[in-house]
Amino acid sequence: MKALVFVIHPNLGDRSIVNKHWFDELKKYPEKFTVHNLYELYPDGNIDVEAEQKLVEAHEKIVFQFPVYWLSSPPLFKKWLDEVLSYGWAYGAGSYKLEGKKIALALTTSADEKTYSEEGAFKYTLKEFTRTFEITFEWIKADYRPYFAFFGAPHTADEANLKKIEQSAKDYVSYVETL
Ligand SMILES: Cc1cc2nc3c(=O)[nH]c(=O)nc-3n(C[C@H](O)[C@H](O)[C@H](O)COP(=O)(O)O)c2cc1C
Repeated sequence: MKALVFVIHPNLGDRSIVNKHWFDELKKYPEKFTVHNLYELYPDGNIDVEAEQKLVEAHEKIVFQFPVYWLSSPPLFKKWLDEVLSYGWAYGAGSYKLEGKKIALALTTSADEKTYSEEGAFKYTLKEFTRTFEITFEWIKADYRPYFAFFGAPHTADEANLKKIEQSAKDYVSYVETL
C-alpha cells in the first residue's frame, strides 16, 4: 500500500529549497507515494475535512512533511489537526480511525543540531519540541514513529549544499518506504 505524504509549505514553488527537493523526489514514485500538497489544495485555508478523512482512512503509513516555523509547524498543519482530527472520528465515542496507523514527521530547520541542544540557543532538542505532535498522535492511538530531519537548511542552493540536499532527498524516500 502507498504511503501518504502531506507536504505542508506555504512557499513550496518559489522559496523552498529542501522541501521542494524532497517533494520532487517523492513525485518520481507515484506507485509508492500519495503526495498531498496541502497549501496548494487549500490556499484559502478552507480544508475539506471529509475528503481529508477519507484520504487518511485509505492509507496505513502517513508522513507530515514541513519546515519548522517558530519551533512548531506552519499554521495550516495546526488547522488541519484541529479540524480533521475530530471527536467521533479520530478519538472519542469509541472511534479511533488512525488507530495503529504509522505516523511520522519529516522536518527541515534553519538552525543546526547544536542549536537544538541544552548548550545551544534553543536549549531543547527537536525531539522535545515535537512532543506535542508525539502525544497528539499517541492520544488517538496511532503508531508514532521517530521523525526524519534536515538541520541547517541553507538559504542558497550552491553546489556543496545541493549535493547534501540531493542525498537527503534520497535518504528521505528510503525512510518513507521503510517506515
Ligand atoms: C516564519 C518562519 C519561522 C521559522 N522558524 C524557525 C525555527 O523556529 N527554527 C528553525 O530552525 N528554523 C526556522 N525557520 C526556518 C525554516 O525552518 C527554514 O527556512 C526551512 O526549514 C527551510 O526549508 P525550505 O528550503 O524547504 O524552505 C523559520 C522560517 C520562517 C519563514
